[in-house]
Amino acid sequence: MHTEFRRAEIPKEIRSLIIFDHKAFQKYPADWFDQATWQATESWWMIGGKRKIGCCAFERHIDFKEDIHPDKDNPHRRGSLYIATTGILPQFRTMGFGTLMKSWQLSYARHHGFSRIVTNTRKSNKVMITLNQKFGFKIIRTTPGYYDSPRESTVVMERRL
Ligand SMILES: CC(C)(COP(=O)(O)OP(=O)(O)OC[C@H]1O[C@@H](n2cnc3c(N)ncnc32)[C@H](O)[C@@H]1OP(=O)(O)O)[C@@H](O)C(=O)NCCC(=O)NCCS
Repeated sequence: MHTEFRRAEIPKEIRSLIIFDHKAFQKYPADWFDQATWQATESWWMIGGKRKIGCCAFERHIDFKEDIHPDKDNPHRRGSLYIATTGILPQFRTMGFGTLMKSWQLSYARHHGFSRIVTNTRKSNKVMITLNQKFGFKIIRTTPGYYDSPRESTVVMERRL
């Protein structure tokens, strides 16, 4: 299958991003991004054939600190790429597309001169944590109670480049 990455057009594709997010994170409605979050992030589609099969969103020159300072926005940090979300549609999982997208994220970060990537996920999300570790990400902290419904810790991971 021909696969490519295409930047989502904002605001035109916000509705498509919201629909995609609901399918990719169907188990966790509490984690769905709202319109303002899609507006503020740089989002990319992974296209397989002609279908949107994956999506991820970045915040450039941002550190993830929302878990330890919930009352503040994530701070600016030069050279830090925050991966705010990564998702593959359920029917396309376990075929290597998550691995392909992770590999592309590392290439993207290097190509654009970032010196580290930071990301976070639910502690129970062993697939994502293992996938990140496969690409050299290290756990830098685990913060209890970050997620709701169900209440759960967030695992924050970093990849130095
Ligand atoms: C996490 C996610 C992106 C992985 O995508 P994917 O396309 O299934 O990934 P891959 O097919 O490349 O598989 C990656 C690894 O996970 C393993 N894996 C995937 N799904 C699995 C499952 N349900 N149980 C056990 N292992 C699984 C694969 O075997 C593979 O391991 P390997 O490299 O040792 O063979 C996908 O499951 C997803 O979109 N989940 C929902 C959204 C989410 O939780 N995102 C992360 C938080 S931001």
